[in-house]
Order: sequence, then C-alpha cells, then structure tokens
Amino acid sequence: MKAYLLNQAGGVENLVLSEIDKPEINAGEVLVETKAISINPVDVKVRPHDEVLNMIMQTEERPVIIGWDIAGVVAETGADVTDFKVGDKVFGMVNFPGHGKAYAEYVASPAAHLTKMPEGVSFEDAAATTLAALTALQVLETRVKEGDKVLIHAGSGGVGHFAIQIAKHMGAHVITTSSAKNKAFCMEMGADEHIDYREVQFEDVLTDIDFVLDGMGGETLAKSVKVLKDGGGAVSLPAPNFPEEVIKEAEARNLNVEFILVQSNGEDMNTLKAMLEAGTLKPHVSATFPFDRLQDAHRQLESGRTVGKAVVTV
Ligand SMILES: NC(=O)c1ccc[n+]([C@@H]2O[C@H](COP(=O)([O-])OP(=O)(O)OC[C@H]3O[C@@H](n4cnc5c(N)ncnc54)[C@H](OP(=O)(O)O)[C@@H]3O)[C@@H](O)[C@H]2O)c1
Repeated sequence: MKAYLLNQAGGVENLVLSEIDKPEINAGEVLVETKAISINPVDVKVRPHDEVLNMIMQTEERPVIIGWDIAGVVAETGADVTDFKVGDKVFGMVNFPGHGKAYAEYVASPAAHLTKMPEGVSFEDAAATTLAALTALQVLETRVKEGDKVLIHAGSGGVGHFAIQIAKHMGAHVITTSSAKNKAFCMEMGADEHIDYREVQFEDVLTDIDFVLDGMGGETLAKSVKVLKDGGGAVSLPAPNFPEEVIKEAEARNLNVEFILVQSNGEDMNTLKAMLEAGTLKPHVSATFPFDRLQDAHRQLESGRTVGKAVVTV
C-alpha cells in the first residue's frame, strides 16, 4: 500500500510517499481502507519538530506515519470486534494522542475509536468530522450550559465552526471572532454575534462572558480571561504553558482556565454521528486535495487561513 513516511522531522518535503506493507490488525482492531483523511494544525506542528512529534506520537521510533482523522471502508475485522463488519463505512480519530498512521491507504484502528458513517454523508464530510469536532464536543459538553454567554475564537476554523454549532445546539449565546471575510460563514454556522478581530478589540466590547473557547492562545488568551465573569471558565487549545498574568488573574477571580488535549473516543464519535444524522452538525470542507498532493494540504493548514476543514481524498 501507499503511505507517507516521515523519516525525520522537517519540512513538507520530508513527507515521502512510499510503498509499504499493509498493517496487520490485532483482536480489537479493524483494518480500514482509507477514502478520506482530514488535516489539522497538529499535523503541521508535529512534522517539523522532533520533541513535539515524540510527545504527540508517544514514540521516538522513525519512520512514523502521521495523521489521525479517517473515513473509509472496513476491509478486515479483528477476532474480538463485534460492532463492525467488512464493508461498513466508518470514520473516527485513530490513536490520538499516539501513532495514528492515518496518511495511508489502509489504517489499523482500534474499533473503540470509530463509528459508522451516517447514510448520505460523504467520505470527505465524515473525515472532516473527527479531531476538530471531537475537540469542540469534549470541551463544550461538560463546561457550557443553556443560556451561557460563550466566546469562541477563530469561529471560521476547523474547531471553531463545529464549536459554534455545538454551543448553539446547547442553547448558549455564541459570540465569535474571525476576520471580516469570514463573518457571513460564522453567522451561517449559528453565531449570534461576530467580532472582526482586525477592526475591534474584543476585550473593549465584551464583559461577563461565562466561557471562552480559545483556539489562538498567548495574547488572545490573556485578553480573554479579562472578559470572563468571576468564576467563569476558559479552555485554551494551542498550548498548556499559560502566560503568568493569566495564572494570576485566574487565581484572583476564581477562573477555571484549562488546557485540554482531545482524546480518541468512539462514544463521542457516536454523539457526532447522531448530530450529523439530526442535521445539528454540518461540517464545512473548503479545500480538498488528492492523496499525491498531501503536502499542499499541509501548506494550506500552515497558512492559518483555512475556513472549516481541509481534506485529502485517497
Ligand atoms: N489541544 C487540543 O486537543 C487541540 C485540538 C484541536 C486544535 N487545537 C489547536 O487549536 C488551534 C485551532 O485549531 P483549528 O483546527 O480550529 O485551526 P484552523 O482551522 O487552522 O483555524 C483557522 C482559522 O483561524 C482564524 N484566525 C486566525 N487568526 C485569528 C485571530 N487572531 N483571531 C480569530 N480567528 C483567527 C482564521 O480566520 P481568518 O482567516 O478570518 O483570520 C481561520 O479561519 C490550533 O492551534 C490547534 O493546534 C488543539
């Protein structure tokens, strides 16, 4: 089968399309013939840096196959697998954090990380509704309640466009940030208010926010804690090392400021599947690349300007 091997951390040219053996599966795994793969900022963060690569992949072995988000067709099932059969269309985030090995024509996935694709959903849309959607779900489901005023940064991005829809579905009042060109898209996703971060400093116009989902980190996080009401909460996604001023403000005003790392979870995939079926969650794929142009998908993510998701078809 064809797969992208990363022999050494580095630029996109280090992702080398290679011919290797199909993976073997263990009793709890299924072999998925990959039809679509989604690309995330974490893919382009691990690729160039050995320490980030080792930390997220939880291995120092080389070569590695990066990537975690897949949709495809079950080609084989392990002896203990009862939920899936050969021919089922499935999607999920495989072994995150860990060695997902998704940039490949076949992927060995724990059955517990997958769910079946709903009828009428394309492989591209299913692949898109994985890491980014799981992140939005895992952040919001235990931290937001009906009537909360929620601020979602980068509402036009992969996580943001799912987060707007999920928070809205939970009955929150959703305020989001992006540049002006993506305002219409954010409103279409269900936002109640939009702030163009290039024109308006959100900390000048917002106050008494219950919860912030911060996809930017750094200065944006420092400003975000200032708009929280006392006792409010924030999850910052890019990095766990918060600025000193954020830690002090959180202590002084009883704010719950957290970093979380999304985790593979088939139960949560079932929830996303149900939301796709109900029409309460709609992925937006703005860029699609063929498998032999996967490096261009990395360049797209590196731009920081992706609207919704970028997907590679296999
Ligand atoms: N900890 C975890 O488990 C976890 C999980 C998922 C993601 N993440 C992290 O979360 C971050 C976001 O991920 P993502 O997939 O949503 O990224 P993404 O899809 O690449 O986000 C792109 C979007 O960000 C918007 N944006 C750029 N600068 C902005 C700013 N200053 N203010 C508001 N919006 C801005 C852009 O809109 P404009 O073009 O309009 O500016 C664009 O639509 C990344 O750092 C990622 O690594 C962490």
